[in-house]
Amino acid sequence: MTQQTLPAEDFSRRFRNALGMFATGITVVTTRTPDGVPIGLTVNSFNSVSLDPPLIVWSLANDLPSRALFEGCEYYAINVLAADQAELSQRFASRLGDRFGGLDFDSGVGGVPLLRGCCARFQCRNTVRHEGGDHVVFISEVVDFDREPRPPLIYFGGAYRQLQA
Ligand SMILES: Cc1cc2nc3c(=O)[nH]c(=O)nc-3n(C[C@H](O)[C@H](O)[C@H](O)COP(=O)(O)O)c2cc1C
Repeated sequence: MTQQTLPAEDFSRRFRNALGMFATGITVVTTRTPDGVPIGLTVNSFNSVSLDPPLIVWSLANDLPSRALFEGCEYYAINVLAADQAELSQRFASRLGDRFGGLDFDSGVGGVPLLRGCCARFQCRNTVRHEGGDHVVFISEVVDFDREPRPPLIYFGGAYRQLQA
């Protein structure tokens, strides 16, 4: 029997499905434009890198409209969503509507928006970026952070989940 090469879309779907077996939390990454307008997007590629110095990592798709703004900003924040914040995840992944409309938020270093009701918030200096295929990989120094003992929002198999006791 001859070995058949899988069509590219089949590889892509199987690869995404396999990656979806890695359960993650969900974050909203926020910053301000040079004009001071708050911006943000939903990100689950966040992870820890180093304790000393304190470094985190996440990746941003090359073709996103917000890419140049995140690449150029001095500071940004990673807001780790709590179990009851799935609506915020949807809102910050959607192109419809004002993402910050009606949202109360705090202001961090350099004025970065810090969302309320999150499990943790990391304020980061935009230090190093690497090309990563169709994404740009941010590795950044955490300059401040806070934490609330709330259950986290979980993302697994392309769906929102809750931790079970
Ligand atoms: C659960 C979830 C996780 C996501 N993770 C990422 C991510 O890690 N990196 C990324 O570039 N986009 C990610 N996205 C997609 C962006 O949130 C989405 O494309 C958003 O509209 C981009 O914002 P922009 O249009 O302002 O650039 C994710 C979306 C969802 C729903």
